[in-house]
Amino acid sequence: MKTDMEILGLLIDYKNKEYLSGEKLASMLNISRNSIWKAIEKLKKSGYEIDSVHGKGYRLISNSDILSEVIISKNTDTTVMVFDELSSTNEHIKKIPASDLPFVVLADGQTQGKGRLGREFVSAKGKGLYMSYSFKPKLAQGDTMLITCGVANLVREAILETCHLDTKLKWVNDIYMDGKKLCGILTEGEFNLETHLFDRIIIGIGLNCYHYDVPSDLREKVGFINDFTGAYVSRNDLSISIINRLNNLFYNKESLDNKSIIEKYKENCFMINKVIKLSTFSGEPISVLVLDIGEKGELVVEYLEGPKKGKKESIISGEILL
Ligand code: BTN
Repeated sequence: MKTDMEILGLLIDYKNKEYLSGEKLASMLNISRNSIWKAIEKLKKSGYEIDSVHGKGYRLISNSDILSEVIISKNTDTTVMVFDELSSTNEHIKKIPASDLPFVVLADGQTQGKGRLGREFVSAKGKGLYMSYSFKPKLAQGDTMLITCGVANLVREAILETCHLDTKLKWVNDIYMDGKKLCGILTEGEFNLETHLFDRIIIGIGLNCYHYDVPSDLREKVGFINDFTGAYVSRNDLSISIINRLNNLFYNKESLDNKSIIEKYKENCFMINKVIKLSTFSGEPISVLVLDIGEKGELVVEYLEGPKKGKKESIISGEILL
């Protein structure tokens, strides 16, 4: 590991305790005090706020919102790769062979962030959390919607834990606050036709953290965590909370607890008992009443118009238009 990253790790450990003197750091890492000074300057240049007090030493100031491989991997026991900019974290992670252990790719910004249905996910640099998580599942093929519901639940919980914001879920994979979309989730799988299992699943999470000027067609639709909290958002803390929850949900699991996932999802989904326009990708969007979320995550609706008027159906693929 590079010296600056080692020093960063030590500063994190001591963050709430005491100043670390140059002398102590030098003896801990067995290098010269001059090398320590150079590495500290490098960290400061990368944006870490480090307080240096003559005669005392160095201390990391808590709210440096620089995505940090060291901080995130140290607190999740997971391999994490952080990039300044990528076209898409989902596309990048696909180039890295799947391994038995889950791993994560994060980017400070994306130039071609992918949304569902071939759409773009606008991903300005330094303004959001753009993360992909890759794992080799032991789960059966039929669990795909449950996976998305489980991820939506846990991202909601992570936002609540780290930002104290009580968001709601829009079927199937969006997180909303007061009518504005804060987060989208894109789940992709590599399915093996011989084993009838997934060789790997990639979960892409895009979370809007800090306000910025989005293209005019999105202005009414998109929201940002700090618009609602008025507070600093730690993208490192958010990542840590999300990754630990993803590991808990998926690592070494042969099945998912669908009852508790769906119960939790239903508690926070703001679609139930609402009349909405549903697009099932064939024909015009149609008015339906949402009756329930089924036990595998499907949307249970009653048609309010068209040839199926009055009929009930479980929808596994479609989109609610707001
Ligand atoms: C959607 O709202 O349609 C899903 C958006 C998913 C965006 C995330 S950002 C990180 C990951 N990389 C991508 O290119 N997309 C996902």
